[in-house]
Amino acid sequence: MSTMSVHGMWSSRLAFILAATGSAVGLGNIWRFPYTAGEYGGGAFVLIYLICVAGIGIPIMMAEIMLGRRGRQSPVNTMRSLAGQEGAHGAWQLLGWMGIVSGLLILSFYSVIAGWTMAYVTRAFGGQFGGIDAAGAESMFGALVSDPERLLAWHTIFMVMTVMVVARGVASGLEKAVRFLMPALFVLLIGMVLYAAQAGDFQAALAYLFKPDFAKLGEHAGEAILSAMGQAFFSLSLGMGAIMIYGSYLNSSASIGRNAVIIASLDTTVALLAGLAIFPIVFANGLSPDSGPGLIFQTLPIAFGQMAGGQLVGVVFFVLLVFAAWTSAISLLEPVVTWLVENRGFSRVRATVIAGSAVWLLGIACLLSLNVWAGFTIFGKGILDLFDYVTANVLLPLGGVLIAVFAGWIMRRASSRDELAMGETSIAYGAWRLLIRYVAPICVVIVLLNAIGLI
Ligand code: PHE
Repeated sequence: MSTMSVHGMWSSRLAFILAATGSAVGLGNIWRFPYTAGEYGGGAFVLIYLICVAGIGIPIMMAEIMLGRRGRQSPVNTMRSLAGQEGAHGAWQLLGWMGIVSGLLILSFYSVIAGWTMAYVTRAFGGQFGGIDAAGAESMFGALVSDPERLLAWHTIFMVMTVMVVARGVASGLEKAVRFLMPALFVLLIGMVLYAAQAGDFQAALAYLFKPDFAKLGEHAGEAILSAMGQAFFSLSLGMGAIMIYGSYLNSSASIGRNAVIIASLDTTVALLAGLAIFPIVFANGLSPDSGPGLIFQTLPIAFGQMAGGQLVGVVFFVLLVFAAWTSAISLLEPVVTWLVENRGFSRVRATVIAGSAVWLLGIACLLSLNVWAGFTIFGKGILDLFDYVTANVLLPLGGVLIAVFAGWIMRRASSRDELAMGETSIAYGAWRLLIRYVAPICVVIVLLNAIGLI
């Protein structure tokens, strides 16, 4: 078995934690978590989300890192060779293919939202948030999303930024960037929570986020559970091979269990901080928590417009959010790029440009769905919303189930024990095995079947 990946290796164990946290922490935490929690009424959704992170997310993350490190190739080829080693059917490589599709679809809309974030850097910089009220923030956001040329320009810039890093190889600069960015984002978010605590309606936000009211879910309980689970997969970057490919660059002696717990904890903390920064402002300004994907863009400018030094804080915040999105976008492109390099013999640069161009084209469909094609819907959703919904709530959980089944049922006990470096009698190994064999796959399948009305 190879102990090195041809695509590079992290220079240290810390580099892996940083890169994987960079993948996990992104728009999913700061843009997607608050607006999805808001759409499903808060507390009950948040509680289910936390349960999913602990009971499903962490074990699957361990499995994904483990498969990646054992295979040391692109997710497609990793699954093919691991299936060979374990005497299983070659069709397991379909898991890698599904991941490639999910990654392309996610990045296509992710890049558009990252574009909104960049547009907001310039608005913050130009002092446009000064004294803005809820109506003003709403119309500023409306003006942006109804302007296809502007959206296209930002989407293009973001994709170029992503392609530039991936083309150079992710093991080379990513860790340096994340080492500084993650702590900075953390500190700034805490500052914003403190501001929201005194300027906004903190009591209301706390009750909203942490007092589960299951009655609120009403007849949409199945939907809410599906979305909370989907949010856990999306936020932890699970189920599409991003964490698998990052695991493939990980040193053989690092502890997978410990790393997974650290990454998931950091990711969850950032999401909760984002909620605590945003909802006090939502309630203090009479905004509605369920205003959808525009939520943070319609609330944070009000806070930046009122706080002392808000112009600077606003610029720094949106810049950090762009970086957080960037480090996630890189991991979305990496699985397909490594596959193109391995199987098509492309150079890394060529592979990245081709994959990036495909995403760029798909992204155009996403951004047009916000304006010119607004009337065109499938299952009542525009293309961007549809990609967002289907990837997070269907494709990633399905990928997660397959990873769990492979790691828990197909892989020999001796292989997983060896890779996780846990003793036969260790309680942690026993717990992981119980979760990965039964709890995670059964829960995900029940939630999925329930959502399509089969049970
Ligand atoms: N986890 C990233 C975020 O929260 C998004 C992502 C999903 C990245 C899936 C990689 C794979 O923003």
